[in-house]
Amino acid sequence: MIFFFYNIYTFKKNLHMAHIFFQLGSQVDISEEELYSTFNTETEIFSGFAFGELPKQKVKKKFDELGGIMRAGVVLGEEKSFEGVQKGITEHVIRNAKKGKKMKIGIFIGSKQGWKNFGIGLQKTIKQASKGDEYEENKFSVRIVNRDAKNLDSYAVHKEKLLEKGNFEYVCIPLPTGWAWGISIGVQKAFDFAARDMKKPVRDMKVGLMPPKLARIMINMTRDESGNLPAKIYDPFCGMGTVLLEGMSLGLKVAGSDLSKKMVEATKKNTQWYFNYQERAQRMNMTAEEKAERDTRFKQLGKEQKYDKFNEFNIDEDYINNKKSTEEKRDPFFLRDIFIKDATKSFYPDQQKKINKSVIVGEGFLGKIFHKPINETQYSIQKEELFPMYRQFLFQISKENISKIVFAFPFWQGEDKKTYSFVSELIEFVEKLGLKLIKSPIRYIREGQVVGREIVTFEKK
Ligand SMILES: C[S@@+](CC[C@H](N)C(=O)[O-])C[C@H]1O[C@@H](n2cnc3c(N)ncnc32)[C@H](O)[C@@H]1O
Repeated sequence: MIFFFYNIYTFKKNLHMAHIFFQLGSQVDISEEELYSTFNTETEIFSGFAFGELPKQKVKKKFDELGGIMRAGVVLGEEKSFEGVQKGITEHVIRNAKKGKKMKIGIFIGSKQGWKNFGIGLQKTIKQASKGDEYEENKFSVRIVNRDAKNLDSYAVHKEKLLEKGNFEYVCIPLPTGWAWGISIGVQKAFDFAARDMKKPVRDMKVGLMPPKLARIMINMTRDESGNLPAKIYDPFCGMGTVLLEGMSLGLKVAGSDLSKKMVEATKKNTQWYFNYQERAQRMNMTAEEKAERDTRFKQLGKEQKYDKFNEFNIDEDYINNKKSTEEKRDPFFLRDIFIKDATKSFYPDQQKKINKSVIVGEGFLGKIFHKPINETQYSIQKEELFPMYRQFLFQISKENISKIVFAFPFWQGEDKKTYSFVSELIEFVEKLGLKLIKSPIRYIREGQVVGREIVTFEKK
């Protein structure tokens, strides 16, 4: 296999570009698609990592927007052996260590076997290398956070501040002929996804909730050719609002509807909670000027300033009302864009206004829950129930002023390793409606599950 590494010196000439690695989530195909939509660059996949030449600052800036990528970083070297990597990292540490400063480093080994004594060995080589004649003069301290070289989870990487200036997380990636190594520039804040998933006030395991990371990936798949996100997304089967929360977390306007009043209420509560949660986080991160501006505003209103005690589960009406008059553009009243609607029926004019110019992201009803692979008859029953509903939904949505649809349809694991899907029939149907398939469908299924999701992207012609 010809590896890309031969041209490391070529792209070093272009200062903006770096050789970037991405550690992909468990669903490789969809993570790759997310990368492509976000950075508009083909990547080369190896050992669960994607590699490409990209501007480092752009990757850094957009990293937190991604859902399917666990890590990103810059490749700094390629070595044939474990010892070579050790040497390369040691040299990098010595070059970057600052006199009188403490440096913290972590190690991430991208292979299943791990490297038992790597951390201890590295500590030794760093000590040796720093003991030259000038050692006393250049005194510095390096602490390896995980000397056992057991990979740190994302929470630990952030807690130990390994991505901050002066500290490093070194990543070692297996290649066919040895190892690539580099430093991380982004590590997924898995705890943020978990917070949105677990802390939201209304949850019901019986309703097929979408994994928040999948929702985030699908939103990223709606990006335009320059990698920009749409201004507004609409989920016509919003359930408990997973897609909407992910949209809000990216700063997008959101709209959602569902057939069930109970679900609409749940989405309203969840999006309201998340709005407060974001507001609270934002206020905590305000700059001194913003705080002063806020304080003046509230003094004028004769209010007490008790914002640090803000309770994330209660709406702060005064704050929001005040904000409405000054900052209409953030539209705190996004809740009005969540409504009851049967996705197979046509839109009323007021509903049309709410979804106007948005991009559709969502998944519909996935049908019956199965615990083992299904047979032909079971599939026919599912198809009979779901296919006409989806067809009708696509017919209705095709008439609206929307530009793109990224939607997950169900597919099923059958007996004898067969899979069942009606997606190709749906595609045939929608092409007659003026919707164009712009990416090959991508399948997503969790291990052991019978129903998977087939993600399809259409554009309005
Ligand atoms: C799989 S759930 C969506 C879950 C959602 N993505 C989430 O994570 O919260 C499917 C939703 O579709 C709704 N639904 C089913 N048939 C519908 C229809 N004809 N029109 C609108 N919504 C419908 C159900 O009430 C349910 O909330």
